[in-house]
Amino acid sequence: MHIQEKSEIAESVLMPGDPLRAKFIAENFLSNIKLFNNIRGILGYTGYFMDKKISILASGMGIGSVNIYVYELINFFGVKNIIRIGTCGSIKENVIPREIIVAMGACTDSNFFKKFNLNGYPSAISSWRILRKTYETSRELKIKIHVGNILTQIDFYLEDISNSIKWSKLGVLALDMETAALYLTCARYNTNALSILSVSDNLITKEEISSSEREKSLIEMIELALNTVIKL
Ligand code: HPA
Repeated sequence: MHIQEKSEIAESVLMPGDPLRAKFIAENFLSNIKLFNNIRGILGYTGYFMDKKISILASGMGIGSVNIYVYELINFFGVKNIIRIGTCGSIKENVIPREIIVAMGACTDSNFFKKFNLNGYPSAISSWRILRKTYETSRELKIKIHVGNILTQIDFYLEDISNSIKWSKLGVLALDMETAALYLTCARYNTNALSILSVSDNLITKEEISSSEREKSLIEMIELALNTVIKL
């Protein structure tokens, strides 16, 4: 087990990659917070947002890490809705740093799906219900979002980005390192999932987010996710 046994975890969980981001969200947006996990420094909190019980657990980086926590949340703690809130690298000129992408689906260059022994390639898709509610919330809060496909890569430091960029011809908007595993594991265990991602950099234009914009974008993404969870 990588999550403290007998932890009190809500049906809906927000998953940032970074443990300190989990702490920041819990301390600044939730009331009545309880720390339920600190194994390996992967901080997890349960608290309330507008009377709705919500948990926040970091995922760490990459498919291997996120999948351990997602598997345990679903199978050992009965979690029903998981919303990843992370960052991504844009591979489209018109999707610029600081903007938010909601991942309708996620391709992957990993062989993660091989564990299911399929005779083809699965579509890793998000929950329509959470996606629809996120879209509605984005309209209410006047937050601009891009909705589309992303690519979950196995590696951050690439020898050659030309391969990643080929995916943009297929309409893929951005790269992350977790979403496809989140979606496939949630599909396997009948759980709802969505990734909401803030664009930290653009691999085509080389533009990067500034630190003040990073904060603003992070807060927008957290508000979008929390105000969506209360409708689930
Ligand atoms: N690749 C993968 N994940 C990322 C990136 C990237 O370039 N930027 C932010 N998250």
